[in-house]
Amino acid sequence: MKTAGKVLALLEENKGDYVSGAEMARVLGKSRNAVWKAINDLRTRGYVVESVTNKGYRLADDNDIISPEGIRSYIKPEKLKTLGKLTVYECVDSTNDKAKELAIKGCEHGTCIVAAKQDGGRGRKDHLFYSPEGGIYMSLILLPDKIPYKDAGDITRFIGNSVCKAISDLTGITPYIEGINDLYIDGKKICGILIESGSEFDSGHLQWIVAGIGINFDPDIKAFPKELKGKAAGLFAPGKGNISKNNLIASILENIC
Ligand code: BTN
Repeated sequence: MKTAGKVLALLEENKGDYVSGAEMARVLGKSRNAVWKAINDLRTRGYVVESVTNKGYRLADDNDIISPEGIRSYIKPEKLKTLGKLTVYECVDSTNDKAKELAIKGCEHGTCIVAAKQDGGRGRKDHLFYSPEGGIYMSLILLPDKIPYKDAGDITRFIGNSVCKAISDLTGITPYIEGINDLYIDGKKICGILIESGSEFDSGHLQWIVAGIGINFDPDIKAFPKELKGKAAGLFAPGKGNISKNNLIASILENIC
């Protein structure tokens, strides 16, 4: 991991508290100048890092940039062991497509691809899934022998319930499931789930499952395409979430893995 990633991990782990440049340099085995450059690098990437003389640096409360370091900072250490590699993109075509490529090559249970935007997001039955900024788009690779369910219906329910529980536990808003696996609040869709799998043709042996989850976290609903108007909602108005995207992603991962 580059120094900026390591500094970000320290700031995320100490959210709310100041960490001095000297302390970060000591923990990371780097010079104070390297820490300072890393802080500037983070600021260039959009992080608001507050600094106070004789106290050090801390992440401002309203940072809501999705990152592996930010997600991991919310996951209990014993749970971290059950997760696979976590990769975050600013934009991809489809996190499910990226995850399927990895699953076909072979990867660990719990490997996860997250994106802040998708430009080719897919829904069920080859529908497009509108995936602008303000959403959470994540695909989790599950190996059948590592999950407590075999039946497709049970797996689908397990994923939907895990997402509902994470949203409800953290926000106090409890969505309900409609159709196969769409999450709604007050008659409007806030999340779609697309579960895909790979199997051996002859035996039907299930090899991998990709659970793709798309959540309208705090997008600009007014900018949604007209066919979605009145049908989709966000969990929060833009920038008004009472939790961070990293926190919700972490909780979903903890519930599923
Ligand atoms: C649906 O509503 O029909 C399902 C939508 C599933 C969207 C998610 S977003 C993350 C993952 N990547 C995709 O391309 N699709 C799923």
